[in-house]
Amino acid sequence: MYQAIQIVHSYWAYLVLLIVTLATINALAGFFGKREYAPKDFRVSLFALIVSHIQLLIGLAIFFLSPLVVWFSGTYKVGEIMKDATLRLYNVEHPTVMILTIVFITIGYSKHKKKLTSTPKFKILAIFYTIAWILMLSRIPWAQWF
Ligand code: HEM
Repeated sequence: MYQAIQIVHSYWAYLVLLIVTLATINALAGFFGKREYAPKDFRVSLFALIVSHIQLLIGLAIFFLSPLVVWFSGTYKVGEIMKDATLRLYNVEHPTVMILTIVFITIGYSKHKKKLTSTPKFKILAIFYTIAWILMLSRIPWAQWF
């Protein structure tokens, strides 16, 4: 069970990385290029929301199964987890920052929908998706993943 979910989380991350990157570039290009907001802009921002929410669910499942998450083992004290870079990444930084990433995507998506004209729509998406994108890139376990 753990291995199957680990593989899904690992491969789904490629899709999340690709789509969130595309949606962020699209929002920035739309805003700076002063384009008209089109149905394809809605689709790419919605797709980023969907794939990241699915990754959140997979991430929550793996959090309770992974041997790298030691909160529930009773073996480590909080101080020991915080002192060890790998333990800190999987137990604290990665889950927290990825949840924040998804919060930013969700807020950006819902706020942009309420705007009625193109520039404010792109502006909201560009701000929130860029923050989410930077947060996501900052806490992907690149060395273990690639
Ligand atoms: C945007 C969302 C997320 C992305 C892009 C992402 C990406 C990744 C990647 C690339 C790995 C390394 C996989 C590997 O080594 O093969 C990983 C591992 C992990 N992620 Fe996430 N993740 C996300 C959200 C979450 C969330 C929300 C949680 C928990 C609440 C979580 C918990 C974990 C855990 C526990 C591992 C270690 C799994 C293991 O190897 O045992 N992730 N994640």
